[in-house]
Amino acid sequence: MTSRIDWVRHSCRLLAGIAEEFGTTQPFAGLTIGTGIHLEPKTVALILTLASGGARMISTGNLSSTQADTVSYLRRRGVQVVGESTTDRARHAGYLGEVLGEKPDLLLDNGGDLFMGYLGNPYPGLLGGTEETTSGRMRLQPLALTLDVPVLVINDSPIKQFAENRHAVGQSVLESYLRITNRMTNGRRVLVFGYGACGRGIAAAFRSTYATVSVVETDPVTRLEAYLDGFAVPDREDALRQADVIVTATGAAGVVGGIDLGLLKDDAVLCNAGHFPTEIAVEELTGSAEVADLQEAGQGISTLNLTDGRRVHLLTGGHMVNLAGPRPLGNSIESMDLGFALQARCLEAIANGTVSGGNQVVAVPRFIDEMVARAFLRAYGSPAQAAG
Ligand SMILES: NC(=O)c1ccc[n+]([C@@H]2O[C@H](COP(=O)([O-])OP(=O)(O)OC[C@H]3O[C@@H](n4cnc5c(N)ncnc54)[C@H](O)[C@@H]3O)[C@@H](O)[C@H]2O)c1
Repeated sequence: MTSRIDWVRHSCRLLAGIAEEFGTTQPFAGLTIGTGIHLEPKTVALILTLASGGARMISTGNLSSTQADTVSYLRRRGVQVVGESTTDRARHAGYLGEVLGEKPDLLLDNGGDLFMGYLGNPYPGLLGGTEETTSGRMRLQPLALTLDVPVLVINDSPIKQFAENRHAVGQSVLESYLRITNRMTNGRRVLVFGYGACGRGIAAAFRSTYATVSVVETDPVTRLEAYLDGFAVPDREDALRQADVIVTATGAAGVVGGIDLGLLKDDAVLCNAGHFPTEIAVEELTGSAEVADLQEAGQGISTLNLTDGRRVHLLTGGHMVNLAGPRPLGNSIESMDLGFALQARCLEAIANGTVSGGNQVVAVPRFIDEMVARAFLRAYGSPAQAAG
């Protein structure tokens, strides 16, 4: 293995198996697939798997996440890559427009940008495609009837929910906390905001490292579930007063803000696992009259020195702690292998007509979930488990 990208490809056993099969079955022969998903090592394995199925690939990244070595790796292997890393929305929109300008037969979208662009300027022949995220599904669902082609939402597969959002996010948030702070968790009081798929995984991961974990959850039914899972569910103010580590995983904005500064313990650490960097209201915190100054320790740690002498630390500026900061690895390769195997099988099913019209913006079909689950158990577990 000569590079990290090769290591990731080598570790994606499901995609390797699918690529070999696609080499024979050629489900995408004569078709163009346009992708608008992060261009980083794990997506390389997916894009090259689709290419091995006979697809002509035209790919661009998402805003600000494109990695230059990934782009050159793909280009060396014949993938047409549009653009480069940019934080400029207009430039990024131009890249998406270039992908759509090739009139792909299938679209692989992450956040709904490609399908929204297609709706703004439709062209004949689109067979359908996939959407990776909840946020993309929320944009596309109201337009489902106008879309009139199958769009399968990977995030709504139970496999994505438990394998990535619960298990992988739990592990990678814990791994990131340990790597960035280098502090022990034993006996520390960890507070998790939100007990959805991600919050469940984060709470369980910290509990497994001997932390005392509590949960604040706005939905009473989900709060009950956290309680029955053995977590303390104190009221919000008490929870904030006691916490040594606070992790947000809600999808909501302003979950922890300036008004909470008075409650926090000296030396408390704040970090966010939710998609948007607004769960912790960073500007409100830093702009508070209670803050004397802000010090950057670097390597993902900022310290707010409060006027009364307390210090509060913020990790990765409130951006997703497992994807920002020093050497961000994101979720485990295997969890992404699963999600991307769903992607490959969904695109195959649309290309060969197994899934057709009437499936606009719906979850991954059950037969694909079952196929991928069996394949994972065969590849990483044992044939007997797959058959069981
Ligand atoms: N970091 C990653 O790698 C990663 C991966 C997948 C998802 N995400 C993101 O993590 C976030 C959570 O995802 P999820 O799948 O767990 O969502 P979810 O909808 O399953 O769960 C969110 C939970 O938070 C609760 N909640 C909402 N506002 C709250 C508040 N103010 N205080 C306390 N609880 C509150 C909701 O009731 C819900 O139970 C989303 O932003 C998602 O995009 C991050």
